[in-house]
Amino acid sequence: MAKSKVIAVANQKGGVGKSTTVFNLGAGLAAQGKRVLLLDVDPQGDLTKMLGLRQPHDLKLTLATVMKDVVDDVQRGGHPEILHHSEGFDFIPGNRALSAVEDSSISGWA
Ligand SMILES: Nc1ncnc2c1ncn2[C@@H]1O[C@H](COP(=O)(O)OP(=O)(O)OP(=O)(O)O)[C@@H](O)[C@H]1O
Ligand SMILES: [Mg+2]
Repeated sequence: MAKSKVIAVANQKGGVGKSTTVFNLGAGLAAQGKRVLLLDVDPQGDLTKMLGLRQPHDLKLTLATVMKDVVDDVQRGGHPEILHHSEGFDFIPGNRALSAVEDSSISGWA
């Protein structure tokens, strides 16, 4: 973990290739032998759809679940939310539930 790197792909402008970049960067790094975990932090779930899960909003275990567990101080065994992609990387899907986590964590600070 000490040598792990976190890369965030963000841009205020829509439709500029953020999700496409994440997918291809992840696949490229995995092809180089790196261990890669992609996180879909977008409530639209576009990256999740790109990775083959066509109905992200129907998923029960997502990044939102993990974040809510952290906020609620809940600990689960294993990491069933982490999925494997055939391109050789792992990923945690995201969906519109991320918006609710954002709201609940903000109200928790009030
Ligand atoms: N290098 C590229 N050349 C041509 N088209 C591209 C390229 N990268 C992405 N695209 C296309 O541009 C469109 C938008 O890409 P993408 O969904 O990755 O953008 P985004 O920034 O994640 O969008 P959003 O803001 O909606 O999340 C898609 O149709 C994608 O296939
Ligand atoms: Mg996107």
